[in-house]
Amino acid sequence: VFVLSLDRDDDRPLPDQVADAIRDRIRDGFLPPGTRLPATRALAGEIGVGRNTVMAAYDRLVGEGWLSSTVGRGTFVSTATPSTEAVVRMPDEIPATRPFSWSRAAARTCRPQSGSATLAGPDGPALIQFAGAVPDASTYPTDEIRHILNDVLRRHGGHALEYGPSAGHPALREFIAARATAQGSPVQPEDVLIIGGLQQGLDLLARLLLEPGDEVAVESPTYANATQIWQLYGATVAGVPMDEGGMRPDGLATVLGSGRTKLVYVMPTFQNPTGLTMDDQRRRQIMEVAREAEVAVLEDHFDSELRYRGVALPPLRAHDSAGQVILLGTFSKILFPGFRLGWMIAPPEARARLLDIKRTGDLATSLLAQMVVAEFCARGGLERHLQRVRRVHAERMAVMLDAIDRHFPPSVTVTRPDGGMTLWVTMPEGSDAHEVREEARNAGVAIAPGTWFFADGGGRRNLRLSFVNETIERIAPGIEQLAGVIERHVERLTPPRPPERRGEEPAPFL
Ligand SMILES: Cc1ncc(COP(=O)(O)O)c(C=O)c1O
Repeated sequence: VFVLSLDRDDDRPLPDQVADAIRDRIRDGFLPPGTRLPATRALAGEIGVGRNTVMAAYDRLVGEGWLSSTVGRGTFVSTATPSTEAVVRMPDEIPATRPFSWSRAAARTCRPQSGSATLAGPDGPALIQFAGAVPDASTYPTDEIRHILNDVLRRHGGHALEYGPSAGHPALREFIAARATAQGSPVQPEDVLIIGGLQQGLDLLARLLLEPGDEVAVESPTYANATQIWQLYGATVAGVPMDEGGMRPDGLATVLGSGRTKLVYVMPTFQNPTGLTMDDQRRRQIMEVAREAEVAVLEDHFDSELRYRGVALPPLRAHDSAGQVILLGTFSKILFPGFRLGWMIAPPEARARLLDIKRTGDLATSLLAQMVVAEFCARGGLERHLQRVRRVHAERMAVMLDAIDRHFPPSVTVTRPDGGMTLWVTMPEGSDAHEVREEARNAGVAIAPGTWFFADGGGRRNLRLSFVNETIERIAPGIEQLAGVIERHVERLTPPRPPERRGEEPAPFL
């Protein structure tokens, strides 16, 4: 007799429950090999579920090798059931030993991340989310991607599941080269390496260039997950001051004067965290300084296509006559981050070396993901998507700025970028971004404190607010809550500071 009962309190899908119950019976020997299982209709009636549920459970177990089924004869317990963890005997007793010390064995330590600023984190949906700089999932073209994924698998079959070329899927390299060329710096498909997200490019550059004691020049403030990499490989990070026009060329020249700098890391457009953009002249000046010092330049274009007003500018690479610039881009912010796809545009010698290093780490980037994105782009999907999300993000930014103008105390300033994902808030001197963050969390709003973006302990007066992660309806109430928190914080600052006297060093812009 085949006895099977389901637990009504179990909230897993019913086919899973039925399959698990039958599998357990087989493992426990109640259903020996060769046993004929009841017809699906009969079992369904017996245990009080739909016939489809039983059919799905049988299908699953046939797929796993526990059952075999022959049309017209029925479904049987397989004569050779798959071996599973249940069959493997654990040793009875392991003698006690001193725990292995991984910290003693480790060659290097990764500085802990300063909060889960960029990743879906512990905050949960309850908090109004101004911390993470990732467009929210409701903006992703999920249905279109699902259709294309099916198409690609139907057309290419198993080939879409192979490793694929290490340098990347040719169609995607061609698309990126054409797009980059249209954006002001000529690129051939062979100049492009597809990488597993822009983040991988930062790691590859570090592995290519950095030795302990080297220095990396970065904007101050900068993207924390980049400085974490430079430091992991033993480099020190030298912050270059910024003004409204981005990284200051005189500040860069001073840093490069150390003679230890191996790399200049810069985000010329809609910088993270400030949202600021370098104009053409500033780009030329930065390149002049870098050329003079003969230092490699890494330009990070993580969100430069999210422009809501003004005209796009050619990248630093367009001002590079020596072949010292490497440009990194990503689909994470213009499409979605889950496929982990980015690109690197590098001069031939660097490219060959970077490709060799990349192979040691991952052999290749997901071919299936590349094929799907290449097809999406070829059908005009990226252009359509960008047109749509630019409108969505621009509206969100306008709503956030409007609410800030109405509610923030006048002593607090904010950047007004032409695009990107974030605003940079500067509070009066003496403010403590960590306290504001805690209080904002208690009031239901997640923000990123400025200290996350400085390698040298700066940023206590600053906050980064992302406007791409929340719906319009939640942005204004979130800002109102935050304004209340900031207002109370600023009022508590004691003693009140005297107004700045003329002739003194001005307070830093950021
Ligand atoms: C400045 C910057 N660079 C790179 C990345 C990482 O991009 P990817 O998802 O392509 O690895 C981010 C993500 O937030 C970023 O802000």
